[in-house]
Amino acid sequence: MKIIMLGAPGAGKGTQAKRIAEKYSIPHISTGDIFRANIKNNTELGQKAKTYMDQGLLVPDELVVDLVVDRLSQEDAKNGYVLDGFPRTIPQAEALDTALSKKSESVDYAVDVEVPDGDIIDRMSGRRSCSQCGASYHVTFNPPKEEGVCDACGAALILREDDKPETVAKRLSVYHEQTQPLIDYYTGKGIIKEVDGTMGMDEVFDAITKILG
Ligand code: AP5
Ligand code: MG
Ligand code: ZN
Repeated sequence: MKIIMLGAPGAGKGTQAKRIAEKYSIPHISTGDIFRANIKNNTELGQKAKTYMDQGLLVPDELVVDLVVDRLSQEDAKNGYVLDGFPRTIPQAEALDTALSKKSESVDYAVDVEVPDGDIIDRMSGRRSCSQCGASYHVTFNPPKEEGVCDACGAALILREDDKPETVAKRLSVYHEQTQPLIDYYTGKGIIKEVDGTMGMDEVFDAITKILG
């Protein structure tokens, strides 16, 4: 099963993608997580990506597409995957389709997690991310067992660099301009599935699993 997660920053793509990956035993591939790992390891890619991410801008398509296509060709992705944060522009979606069609494959579902802009700011200001493993929490909606400490690996939780209110506003406007057109793109392909992302995390997941079967 090949699934794409669509939705605004903070809509809950990562939260739901992790659960989908577990339930269907497919890898969760998040371009944001890949870039953050590269920033942490101070790679050349990380240094380039950081200049865009810190401003709330998209990393240029040419730095993203090959990376993802390469990742999808790895052994663990042969039975499918859940893509979180990719594609994010029409050229990325077209590049993905081209790469898949070479293997006579295509995306099965594009799940759009819908959350109004007004709710996004609360989600982002309360989000805490693990400094080591990238796990994501929320101070109110999904608190860790011990404040400031990751349940999964015990490392410190931090506020993501791009979760400052000014940067969130920029990410939202970039989303509406460059990523929202993908909803029409996948509607045209007949694979869009819309889910109300304002419900609790478990309800959102139930709605998604009803769709995926
Ligand atoms: P990325 O890491 O993908 O960030 P994003 O799309 O802005 O989305 P987020 O990860 O912030 O939110 P999410 O939807 O995963 O929400 P989450 O589940 O954490 O990308 C970061 C940057 O990398 C981009 O800005 C760009 O620069 C670059 N980049 C990445 N991919 C790229 C690409 N393809 N092309 C170009 N550039 C790219 O949830 C948010 C919070 O809400 C959490 O605290 C969570 O606990 C809480 N929450 C989740 N669901 C619920 C719920 N139902 N109810 C209450 N709270 C909830
Ligand atoms: Mg995410
Ligand atoms: Zn952790």
